[in-house]
Amino acid sequence: MLLKNSEIKRFIKLRKNSGKMAQQNQIQQQPRPELRPQMFEPNDIYEAKKLSLPDYDDPSFSPSNFRSGGDGPKHDERWEKETDFIVDKILCEFIPRENSWLLDYGCGAGRIAKKLCDKKLNILGVDISPGMRKYAVEYVNNPERFLCVSPEMMQQLILQGFRVDGGFAVWTLMHVPKIPEALEEIQDILKFGAPFISVNLQSKRLLPVTMNGEGKWLEDNYDLWGMTDNFFGLRNTILFPHDLDPKNKLLLRSYWKTLTAPPQSVRPTRS
Ligand SMILES: C[S@@+](CC[C@H](N)C(=O)[O-])C[C@H]1O[C@@H](n2cnc3c(N)ncnc32)[C@H](O)[C@@H]1O
Repeated sequence: MLLKNSEIKRFIKLRKNSGKMAQQNQIQQQPRPELRPQMFEPNDIYEAKKLSLPDYDDPSFSPSNFRSGGDGPKHDERWEKETDFIVDKILCEFIPRENSWLLDYGCGAGRIAKKLCDKKLNILGVDISPGMRKYAVEYVNNPERFLCVSPEMMQQLILQGFRVDGGFAVWTLMHVPKIPEALEEIQDILKFGAPFISVNLQSKRLLPVTMNGEGKWLEDNYDLWGMTDNFFGLRNTILFPHDLDPKNKLLLRSYWKTLTAPPQSVRPTRS
C-alpha cells in the first residue's frame, strides 16, 4: 500500500514522539538516590567506633555492609595513629586558655574529643545522630569537659550567645548534603580569629544514600574545599603522612574566622 506524503510525515512524527516517551520512561524508571542520614546510627559502642572512622579505601566497606566491614586490629591501629596526628595538628593551631571551648562538628564516637578533654580542654561535640551522641558521652567519659548536642541545640546555643575559641570537623563535611548551611553554622559559633580545621578526602564528597533499598556512597564533584574557602581565611594545607595515607587521598586544612569573612549578601547561595 502506498502512503501519501502527509501520512508519511505523520508516521515519522509519531515514531519520534514514541522514542522520546520511551527515553523519558527510562529516566523515570532509573532508581533515584535518597539521602540516608541514619547511615551513621550505631547500635552499640563498637559500631559507633567503626562508623566514626570508615575505611574509605576498602571497597567491601560500603554502606550496605558498613557495620561488618573493616578489620579489627587495622582499625584500632588507625584509630590510635590518626587520632594522635589530628590532635597534634589541632593543638598546633590553637593556644588553649583557661575555660577555652572547642567545637567538634560531627564528633561521632568522640574519638578526638576524648584526647582533647584529657588535655583539659572543653569540647562541644555536635552530631546529627542521636546514637553517636549517646556513645560519645559514654566513650569520652568526662561530663565536666564534654558537652554533646544536636545541630538544633547548637543553633540554640548560638542564639544565646555561646561562642567557641576554635573548631574542627573531621570526616564530617564530606558527608553533609547542605554544606553552606553547615559552614554558616560553624562560622556563627566561632569567635573572630578562631581557628577551624577541616579534614576530608581531597577530591570527592560521599553522601550516604539508599538506591533500590541498598545503602551506597553517592560520589559527587561538589567543590567542598572551594566552598569552605569562601567562609574562612585559609592558613595552610597539610597532606597526611605516608603511613596513614599511602595513596595521598586525604587532606587537612586549617583556617581561621577572619574579620573580613564574606558578608551575608555575597555568601554563596544555599544548595
Ligand atoms: C565518619 S564520622 C566522623 C566522626 C568523627 N569526626 C571522627 O573522626 O571520629 C561522620 C560523623 O558526622 C556526623 N554527621 C553527618 N552529617 C552531619 C551533620 N549534618 N551535622 C552534624 N553531624 C553530622 C555523623 O553522624 C557521623 O558521626
